[in-house]
Amino acid sequence: MTVTRGLEGVVATTSSISSIIDDTLTYVGYDIDDLAVNASFEEVIYLLWHRKLPTQIELEELKSQLADNARLPKEVLDHFKMYPIDQVHPMAALRSAVSLLGLYDQEADAMDEQANYNKAIRLQAKMPSIVAAFARVRKGLEPVEPRKDLSFAANFLYMLTGNEPEAIAVEAIDKALVLHADHELNASTFTARVCVATLADVYSGITAAIGALKGPLHGGANEAVMKMLTEIGTLENVDSYVREKLEKKEKIMGFGHRVYRKGDPRAKHLREMSKKLTELTGEPHWYEMSTQIEAIVTGEKNLPPNVDFYSASVYHSLGIDHDLFTPIFAVSRVSGWLAHILEQYENNRLIRPRAEYTGPGMQKYVPIGLRG
Ligand SMILES: CC(C)(COP(=O)(O)OP(=O)(O)OC[C@H]1O[C@@H](n2cnc3c(N)ncnc32)[C@H](O)[C@@H]1OP(=O)(O)O)[C@@H](O)C(=O)NCCC(=O)NCCS
Repeated sequence: MTVTRGLEGVVATTSSISSIIDDTLTYVGYDIDDLAVNASFEEVIYLLWHRKLPTQIELEELKSQLADNARLPKEVLDHFKMYPIDQVHPMAALRSAVSLLGLYDQEADAMDEQANYNKAIRLQAKMPSIVAAFARVRKGLEPVEPRKDLSFAANFLYMLTGNEPEAIAVEAIDKALVLHADHELNASTFTARVCVATLADVYSGITAAIGALKGPLHGGANEAVMKMLTEIGTLENVDSYVREKLEKKEKIMGFGHRVYRKGDPRAKHLREMSKKLTELTGEPHWYEMSTQIEAIVTGEKNLPPNVDFYSASVYHSLGIDHDLFTPIFAVSRVSGWLAHILEQYENNRLIRPRAEYTGPGMQKYVPIGLRG
C-alpha cells in the first residue's frame, strides 16, 4: 500500500464542472477572470448546473425559481429561537438549519433527477435567507422577508440589514459569490460527493459539506484573517507580528494552497475590491496592512495569498459581522456542491478508499476482570 497523506495529487474522479490547470481556474471552460468581470452569480449557478451559460429566458426562469423558494419554513425560524444564541457560531446554525430543512421537504428522499434538481433550487434559494435570518434573530431583530424584485446578491444584503443595499455593495457581494462558487475537488466538495455516493440525500450531502467548510484550513480562514488583522491593529505592528508567527512556524491565515503554486487567480479580484472599498469607508489601513502582510509572507515563504485573504477586508468594509464571512462563502459554494452532487448521482460509484493499518498486531481478548 502507498499512503498519500491528505490525498495530495490523487485524482479521485472525473468532473466537467470546474478545473484548475496551470494555476488557471475555469468553470465549465470559462476563465474565472472572464466570469468575475462579466457574469452575475445567477448566471454562474446556471452554468455549473447545466454546463452552459443561460439564454435570457433560461436566466429569468432560474431567477424566478430562486425568488419563489427563498422563504424559510416557520419551523426553521422558530428553531433559531431555541439555539443557545451566545455560543452558536453562524456556521453551526447554518449546518443545523440545512439539516432541519430536509425534515420539511416532502421530496427529501426522492432520488429521481427532477426531485434532486428541485432540491438544488430550494437549497440555493434558502441558504442566504438562513444566514441573514440567523444574523438578525441572534441580535433580537425580526427576520426580513425576501423580495422577488432584487438580484440574489441584493436580496441577501437586504435580508441581512432590512435596507435596500447600495449598488457598490451589491456589486462586491455578487463578484465574491461568483469567485467562490466552485473549486474542483476541494475538501467540502469532496465531502459532499463522498456523502451522496452512498446514495444519501442532497440535504445530507450539503450538511456534511458545510461541516467541512467550517474549519479554519478551509472556509473558516476568511474569519481567521480578520481576527488576525484586528489583533495586529496598526500598520506599524505588521512586521513584528508576522515575522514572529513565521519564526514560531505558525500559519498565516489566508496564505498557501494545496493546488496553486504561483498564486490563486481569485485573490487579485478581491485585492482590487478591498482597495476600493476600504478607501470608500475611510479605513484604508485594512488594505494597507493586508498588502504589507502579503509582501512579508510572499518574500519569506514564497506563499501567495488565497481567496480568503482579501475577502476578509472586503466583507468587513461592507459592515458584515466577522463570523458571517464563512457562511457567505457557503451561500456561494452551495452552488458548486449541488452541481457536484448532481454529477455524482449521474454516474455514481461508492467512494471508499483504504487505510494502512499501523496499530498493534493480533491480540487475544482478555476478560475485563483479568486486565491489569
Ligand atoms: C491551504 C493549506 C491548508 C494547504 O495545506 P497543505 O497543502 O497541506 O500544505 P501544508 O500545510 O503541508 O504546508 C506546506 C508547507 O508550507 C507551510 N505553510 C503552508 N501554508 C502556510 C501558511 N498559511 N503560513 C505559513 N506557512 C504555511 C507549512 O508550514 C509547511 O511548511 P513545512 O514544509 O516547512 O512544514 C495551508 O496552506 C494552510 O493551512 N493555509 C492557511 C489556511 C488557509 O488560508 N486556508 C484557506 C485555503 S483556500
